[in-house]
Amino acid sequence: MEIERIQLQKHGDSRGMLVSLEQNRNVPFEIRRVYYIFANTPDVHRGQHAHRHLTQLAVPVRGSVTLLLDDGTGPATVVLDDPTQGLLLGSMVWRELYDFSDDCVLMVLADQFYDPADYITDYAQFLREVHGVRYVEGLAL
Ligand code: TYD
Repeated sequence: MEIERIQLQKHGDSRGMLVSLEQNRNVPFEIRRVYYIFANTPDVHRGQHAHRHLTQLAVPVRGSVTLLLDDGTGPATVVLDDPTQGLLLGSMVWRELYDFSDDCVLMVLADQFYDPADYITDYAQFLREVHGVRYVEGLAL
């Protein structure tokens, strides 16, 4: 599992702030997709899935959000509220996003195109896959 905070260099002067994201430089992968989450309904929980083969970098461009992260060994929570800090999330991490501030804009860079087949949306299935349980004719091995 890979979960890591990445400090992004802030270029600031009297006019304001600027952060630059560059493929294979401060973003440690090839950027195939960028999406952003905003205008969330109050008290909503998003995510609630893991990815089999996807690395992402989440940057809270504005506002704040809490992430519950679980690599199969138990949950940890991370608050993202600094646009100069990204969170790198590797494959096989269950994630839930909640406590979005009203103004939250969470930008996510990903190393793969959108692929619904890459999602694990059932937590019990995630635990089976992350712990390497194999099934043969309905039997857990
Ligand atoms: P969804 O995966 O439910 O969002 P979250 O995991 O944040 O709760 O995605 C919402 C919708 O957007 C769903 O219809 C799939 C679509 N979508 C794309 O078309 N491309 C993307 O890159 C992503 C992440 C989602």
